[in-house]
Amino acid sequence: MGVAEDVTGDTTGDFDWESLKAEAVAAMEHAYAPYSQYRVGAAARVDDGRTVTGCNVENAAYGVALCAECGLVSQLHLTGGGRLTHFVCVDGAGEIIMPCGRCRQLLWENGGPSLVCWTVSGLKTMKEVLPDAFGPDDLA
Ligand code: THU
Repeated sequence: MGVAEDVTGDTTGDFDWESLKAEAVAAMEHAYAPYSQYRVGAAARVDDGRTVTGCNVENAAYGVALCAECGLVSQLHLTGGGRLTHFVCVDGAGEIIMPCGRCRQLLWENGGPSLVCWTVSGLKTMKEVLPDAFGPDDLA
Protein backbone atom coordinates (compact mmCIF):
# COMPACT_ATOMS: atom_id res chain seq x y z
CA MET A 1 0.00 0.00 0.00
CA GLY A 2 1.37 3.39 -0.90
CA VAL A 3 1.41 6.21 1.62
CA ALA A 4 -1.54 7.83 -0.16
CA GLU A 5 -3.82 5.01 1.03
CA ASP A 6 -2.51 4.86 4.60
CA VAL A 7 -4.98 7.21 6.23
CA THR A 8 -5.48 6.77 9.97
CA GLY A 9 -5.74 10.38 11.09
CA ASP A 10 -7.65 11.11 14.30
CA THR A 11 -10.75 12.97 13.23
CA THR A 12 -12.71 11.89 16.30
CA GLY A 13 -12.07 15.13 18.15
CA ASP A 14 -10.07 13.35 20.88
CA PHE A 15 -7.41 16.06 20.84
CA ASP A 16 -7.03 19.49 22.46
CA TRP A 17 -7.73 21.52 19.35
CA GLU A 18 -8.43 24.72 21.29
CA SER A 19 -4.89 24.69 22.72
CA LEU A 20 -3.41 24.19 19.28
CA LYS A 21 -5.55 27.01 17.91
CA ALA A 22 -4.38 29.26 20.77
CA GLU A 23 -0.80 28.58 19.64
CA ALA A 24 -1.75 29.56 16.10
CA VAL A 25 -3.27 32.81 17.38
CA ALA A 26 -0.12 33.54 19.40
CA ALA A 27 1.99 32.96 16.29
CA MET A 28 -0.30 35.22 14.24
CA GLU A 29 0.54 38.09 16.60
CA HIS A 30 4.09 37.98 15.19
CA ALA A 31 3.02 38.20 11.55
CA TYR A 32 4.71 40.76 9.32
CA ALA A 33 2.01 41.68 6.85
CA PRO A 34 2.35 45.41 6.06
CA TYR A 35 1.22 44.97 2.43
CA SER A 36 -1.86 42.79 2.67
CA GLN A 37 -2.70 43.59 6.30
CA TYR A 38 -3.76 39.94 6.39
CA ARG A 39 -2.07 38.27 9.31
CA VAL A 40 -1.88 34.49 9.52
CA GLY A 41 -0.74 32.13 12.25
CA ALA A 42 -0.30 28.38 11.96
CA ALA A 43 0.33 25.67 14.53
CA ALA A 44 0.86 21.95 14.31
CA ARG A 45 1.49 19.05 16.62
CA VAL A 46 4.38 16.74 15.75
CA ASP A 47 4.31 12.97 16.25
CA ASP A 48 6.74 13.24 19.19
CA GLY A 49 4.50 15.73 21.00
CA ARG A 50 6.27 18.94 19.99
CA THR A 51 4.29 21.90 18.73
CA VAL A 52 5.60 23.98 15.85
CA THR A 53 4.23 27.32 14.72
CA GLY A 54 4.66 29.96 12.04
CA CYS A 55 3.46 33.37 10.92
CA ASN A 56 3.36 34.98 7.50
CA VAL A 57 6.24 37.28 6.57
CA GLU A 58 5.66 39.57 3.61
CA ASN A 59 8.14 41.42 1.42
CA ALA A 60 8.26 44.59 -0.67
CA ALA A 61 8.61 42.19 -3.59
CA TYR A 62 5.05 40.96 -3.02
CA GLY A 63 5.48 37.60 -4.75
CA VAL A 64 8.10 36.33 -2.35
CA ALA A 65 5.93 36.55 0.75
CA LEU A 66 6.35 33.61 3.10
CA CYS A 67 3.15 31.97 4.25
CA ALA A 68 2.79 31.03 7.90
CA GLU A 69 3.10 27.39 6.92
CA CYS A 70 6.57 28.01 5.48
CA GLY A 71 7.85 29.12 8.86
CA LEU A 72 6.10 26.23 10.56
CA VAL A 73 7.73 23.67 8.28
CA SER A 74 11.12 25.30 8.75
CA GLN A 75 10.69 25.12 12.52
CA LEU A 76 9.71 21.47 12.20
CA HIS A 77 13.01 20.61 10.60
CA LEU A 78 15.08 22.99 12.72
CA THR A 79 13.81 21.40 15.91
CA GLY A 80 14.33 17.77 15.02
CA GLY A 81 12.05 16.82 12.15
CA GLY A 82 9.24 14.32 12.51
CA ARG A 83 5.76 14.15 11.06
CA LEU A 84 2.92 16.61 11.50
CA THR A 85 -0.18 14.99 13.00
CA HIS A 86 -2.56 17.91 13.69
CA PHE A 87 -2.69 21.35 12.00
CA VAL A 88 -4.65 24.57 12.21
CA CYS A 89 -4.22 28.08 10.81
CA VAL A 90 -6.02 31.31 11.63
CA ASP A 91 -6.44 34.84 10.32
CA GLY A 92 -5.90 38.09 12.18
CA ALA A 93 -9.26 37.72 13.90
CA GLY A 94 -8.40 34.26 15.11
CA GLU A 95 -10.83 32.64 12.68
CA ILE A 96 -9.98 29.32 11.07
CA ILE A 97 -8.79 29.64 7.47
CA MET A 98 -7.77 27.12 4.85
CA PRO A 99 -4.13 26.71 3.90
CA CYS A 100 -3.47 27.97 0.37
CA GLY A 101 -2.81 25.50 -2.41
CA ARG A 102 0.95 25.76 -2.19
CA CYS A 103 0.88 25.22 1.56
CA ARG A 104 -1.35 22.18 1.22
CA GLN A 105 1.53 20.70 -0.74
CA LEU A 106 3.94 21.57 2.10
CA LEU A 107 1.60 19.94 4.60
CA TRP A 108 1.29 16.84 2.45
CA GLU A 109 5.07 16.46 2.30
CA ASN A 110 5.47 16.77 6.08
CA GLY A 111 2.35 15.10 7.35
CA GLY A 112 1.02 12.92 4.57
CA PRO A 113 -2.56 11.78 4.08
CA SER A 114 -3.31 11.17 7.77
CA LEU A 115 -2.44 14.68 8.98
CA VAL A 116 -5.66 16.06 10.46
CA CYS A 117 -6.54 19.69 9.78
CA TRP A 118 -9.10 21.86 11.50
CA THR A 119 -10.70 23.39 8.44
CA VAL A 120 -13.53 25.81 7.75
CA SER A 121 -15.74 22.76 7.42
CA GLY A 122 -14.51 20.76 10.39
CA LEU A 123 -11.79 18.18 10.93
CA LYS A 124 -10.43 16.70 7.72
CA THR A 125 -7.46 14.57 6.79
CA MET A 126 -4.97 15.86 4.27
CA LYS A 127 -6.27 13.18 1.94
CA GLU A 128 -9.51 15.15 1.89
CA VAL A 129 -7.84 18.57 1.83
CA LEU A 130 -5.55 17.66 -1.07
CA PRO A 131 -7.12 14.74 -2.92
CA ASP A 132 -5.07 12.78 -5.44
CA ALA A 133 -2.00 14.69 -4.28
CA PHE A 134 1.30 14.59 -6.05
CA GLY A 135 3.91 13.62 -3.48
CA PRO A 136 7.02 11.67 -2.55
CA ASP A 137 5.52 8.37 -3.72
CA ASP A 138 5.38 9.70 -7.26
CA LEU A 139 9.17 10.06 -7.28
CA ALA A 140 9.84 6.56 -5.93
N1 THU B 1 -1.13 33.33 3.76
C1 THU B 1 -0.57 32.43 4.62
O1 THU B 1 0.29 32.79 5.43
N2 THU B 1 -0.99 31.15 4.56
C2 THU B 1 -1.97 30.69 3.75
O2 THU B 1 -2.23 29.50 3.70
C3 THU B 1 -2.77 31.65 2.99
C4 THU B 1 -2.12 32.98 2.77
C5 THU B 1 -0.65 34.71 3.78
C6 THU B 1 0.22 35.09 2.62
C7 THU B 1 0.06 36.60 2.58
O3 THU B 1 1.01 37.18 3.47
C8 THU B 1 -1.33 36.83 3.15
O4 THU B 1 -1.73 35.62 3.75
C9 THU B 1 -2.36 37.23 2.11
O5 THU B 1 -2.41 36.31 1.07
